[in-house]
Amino acid sequence: MARPTFARIFPEHIRHNARRVRELAPDSRIMACVKADAYGHDLGISSDALASCVDGFAVACIEEALSLRSRHTSQPILMLEGPQSSDEIGEAADKNITLCINEMHQLEWLEHSGIDTGLSCWVKIDTGMHRLGFNPQLVPEVLSRLAPRINAPELVLCTHFSSADLPGENGVREQLACFDDAVSQTEFAQSTANSAAIFRAPASHRDWVRPGYMLYGGSPLAVATSADLKLKPAMEFSAEVISLRDVPQGERVGYSGRWEAQRPSRIATIAAGYGDGYPRHAPDGTPVLIEGHRLPLAGRVSMDMITVDVTDHPAVQIGSRAVLWGSEPGVDEIAQHAGTIGYELLAGMPKRVPRIVSQVI
Ligand SMILES: Cc1ncc(COP(=O)(O)O)c(C=O)c1O
Repeated sequence: MARPTFARIFPEHIRHNARRVRELAPDSRIMACVKADAYGHDLGISSDALASCVDGFAVACIEEALSLRSRHTSQPILMLEGPQSSDEIGEAADKNITLCINEMHQLEWLEHSGIDTGLSCWVKIDTGMHRLGFNPQLVPEVLSRLAPRINAPELVLCTHFSSADLPGENGVREQLACFDDAVSQTEFAQSTANSAAIFRAPASHRDWVRPGYMLYGGSPLAVATSADLKLKPAMEFSAEVISLRDVPQGERVGYSGRWEAQRPSRIATIAAGYGDGYPRHAPDGTPVLIEGHRLPLAGRVSMDMITVDVTDHPAVQIGSRAVLWGSEPGVDEIAQHAGTIGYELLAGMPKRVPRIVSQVI
C-alpha cells in the first residue's frame, strides 16, 4: 500500500488554461513557462498536456531544457536564464535550444564558442526589474555583436515586469515605455507579458506571451480568484485521515501546544505535513476540505502530518480524504493564510508527493 498522500494533476485543466491565454492574447504566440517542474505539476505531464496548444516552452536552466528536449523533439525550448557556462552554449546548440542572452559575459561566451551561425537567441533588456538583462542603452551594441552568429528571424527582444499585478496597466506602464524606447530602431519580435500582464495589460502582449502560473490555474492577481479569471486549478493535493481522537476541553494539540480545545473536541490527523510541501506557517483555522466541509487546521504543521478540528462532523472517518488545496480551498487561499504566494507552495512541492495524471470527473 502506498502512502495515501498525492497530488492529482488534471491535463484537461492545463489545456483549458492555455486556451484562456489564447482568448486573452489571440495575436500572440505562447511560450509556456514549465520551469521548476512545471510549477510543481510535473514537467512530463504538463508539457505533454500543453504540447498541442502552445508554441514553445520556457525553462530556467540547461538541465530542465535537456530533460524537456528528450520528450519533445521539435518544440521551441527557451532557457530563460541563458547559459551558465560557455559549455552550455554548445549543448544548447546541439539540441536546438534557444538561449536567452541576459548578460555581457554570456555574449562573450557566445562570441568565443566557435559557433559561427544559426543559434536561436532571445535578448533580455532590463527595463526596471534590475535582476537580469542588458541596460537599454547597450541594445544596439549587443544586437550588432550577436548578428553574425544567430538565426535573426528567430531573435526575440524581451523584458520582464516587476509589478504587473498592480491595478490596471500601472504596473507595466513605465517598463513598457522603456522597452519600446529601447527597441524602437529594430524590427525584431518582442515578448514582455507574464500571466498578470496577460490579464492586465493587452498593450504588452506583443509577438510572444510568457504565461506560467495561470497555466496551472492559480490567480496571478491578488484581487481576483482563479474562478474570477475563469481559470481551473490543475492540481488537487490531498491526503487521508489516519487517526481520530477525542480531546477534552483545555487540552492542547501538536508541537508547542499552539491549539487549545475550547470544548470537548474531535481531532483528525492527516498524512501530510511540511515535508510534503504543506506550509509550516499555516495558522490555526486554515481550511482543509474533508467530506465536503471546510474544517479548520488545529495546531502546528508537523513534517508528515497536520491536525484538524472535526468536532460536529461525524462523517469524517479514518480513510476520509482531505483536500489540502485544489478547487476548494485554492492554493492561493492557503498561501494567503500562510503569508506566502501560491507560486512558492506549488514550486516547492517535493518529489515525495506522487503526481498522478487524472481525468476531470
Ligand atoms: C522571465 C519570466 N517570464 C515569464 C514568467 C512567468 O511568470 P508567471 O508565472 O507570473 O506567468 C517568469 C516567472 O517567473 C519569468 O521569470
